[in-house]
Amino acid sequence: MVGVYDSGIGGLSVWKELRALMPRQDYVYVADSAHCPYGEKSPEYITGRARAVTEYLIGKGAEAVVVACNTATAAAISYLRSHYPVPFVGMEPAVKPAALTSRTGVVGVLATANTFKGSLYRDTVMKYASGIHIVEKVGRGLVEAVERGEVPSELIRRYVGEMTAEGADVIVLGCTHFPFLQEEVERAAGPGVRIINPAPAVARQTARVLHSPAEGGGTAVFYSTGDTTVLKSTVLSIDPAVNPGNFYHVTI
Ligand code: DGL
Repeated sequence: MVGVYDSGIGGLSVWKELRALMPRQDYVYVADSAHCPYGEKSPEYITGRARAVTEYLIGKGAEAVVVACNTATAAAISYLRSHYPVPFVGMEPAVKPAALTSRTGVVGVLATANTFKGSLYRDTVMKYASGIHIVEKVGRGLVEAVERGEVPSELIRRYVGEMTAEGADVIVLGCTHFPFLQEEVERAAGPGVRIINPAPAVARQTARVLHSPAEGGGTAVFYSTGDTTVLKSTVLSIDPAVNPGNFYHVTI
């Protein structure tokens, strides 16, 4: 069984790819919606949540945990790897493929403030994007909108416009909530701009980490520390075959 978690429903963009790649795997998902957004909270707070949620997932039988949140990965993945006996897969800022494919030499990254502050992001930029101009855009307000099930077109047009105005021809979705806004991001960016969603690569990395092919029943159970309404409708829009009884509110 694979545990997956995020500050909210954003990690479902990763679960969608996991499910497509490994449909016979069993999944347990935690949306930490009562504590969402993580984007501007302290690293200590986010690590505290990572510990609590990880222990909950392991208690439910998770043999590996996908930290399907760029912000939590940035703050807590090293801590988690050194304190728990299961493999962890985190979100990689997809700066490398962006830098490799940009023709203008300008790449936009849309993420939370905490993701930009993390050493993982800084190191990735140093390693793979020397000579590339990176336009870092904090997508303030977008996570909250996705949690409400909304598409905030005006905000998206503003952020995307600020990146393309500087010449960005590739935009990295550096937060797992943002693939739910991808169509609107594409519309705002126009046809010459490539949008990178790292979720499929993270799903492939999870399959590598698990080694053995999944032989489970393909079950999926979802917990939220907040309201389950949008969680449920989003999951069922991804996979209508999920049992509608498998959604629970939980206090962690
Ligand atoms: N999905 C989280 C991420 O990938 C959102 C962070 C937040 O809660 O602000 O960064």
